[in-house]
Amino acid sequence: MPDSRVPRRRRFLVCEPRHFAVQYAINPWMHPDTHVDVDLAHDQWRTLIRAYEAHGHSVDAVEPVPGLPDMVFAANSAVVVGGRVFGSLFHAPERRPESTHYDLWFKKAGYDVRRPQAVCEGEGDLVWTGRYVLAGTGFRTTREAHREVQEFFGHPVISLTLVDPHFYHLDTALFVLDENNIAYYPEAFSTGSRAVLAQLYPDAVLATRDDAMAFGLNSVSDGRHVFIAPQAEALALRLDDHGYVPVPVDLSEFHKAGGGIKCCTQEIRS
Ligand code: ARG
Repeated sequence: MPDSRVPRRRRFLVCEPRHFAVQYAINPWMHPDTHVDVDLAHDQWRTLIRAYEAHGHSVDAVEPVPGLPDMVFAANSAVVVGGRVFGSLFHAPERRPESTHYDLWFKKAGYDVRRPQAVCEGEGDLVWTGRYVLAGTGFRTTREAHREVQEFFGHPVISLTLVDPHFYHLDTALFVLDENNIAYYPEAFSTGSRAVLAQLYPDAVLATRDDAMAFGLNSVSDGRHVFIAPQAEALALRLDDHGYVPVPVDLSEFHKAGGGIKCCTQEIRS
């Protein structure tokens, strides 16, 4: 194990939680009568942005749109690899309008956006490892979209089946630590997909159900620092054992909508 992990500077795209709320239920975490403390959500979100900036990462923001309470979950709107943008087509009708607003941001920033034909929820289900894409299916993004993503990027796409509705997006059950390793919660996956992950990542950091339920796998790593929910205590210790530096950031208000750190963060890879 290297004694010093090397961070790589990232460019992130985020969306302020100005209109964040829990108004509908499209995953088991959401209950439409839930009260969201909007001021606390804002404070938590700003703490995340400050933590990214303090660690040398750059952050761009999309203007939030009234009536789109989940727009804060920037990860779902695209996947960007090598400066090429594959956009989103949301499963839930409530979220479908978000895609247009993110596409506009990308177009203004000088990117072409490929619109998917099949349901596809961006980095929620499409995780770039540095060599290929790990792609979740089962609840949101379809296998048809996985095929589209492979054709578009020309990189291998490895389909993984999610089986537990609490972990409805791949980024709630797995995250990339660096070009060589990942962390994940095996029970979130079908037996076959578990075997695929074990084969690809024999030295992966495995998380417990408690870590996963605390959104510990909805983390962002820069190769050294891991921005992680403080509630995922066991996972943070394990990451520390592996030479990573956990940076706890509490997004508990966003957990009420089924999202955490990674959900709020889109990575723009040039
Ligand atoms: N309420 C949102 C939904 O169900 C949460 C999205 C979380 N995003 C993520 N990347 N997992 O779609």
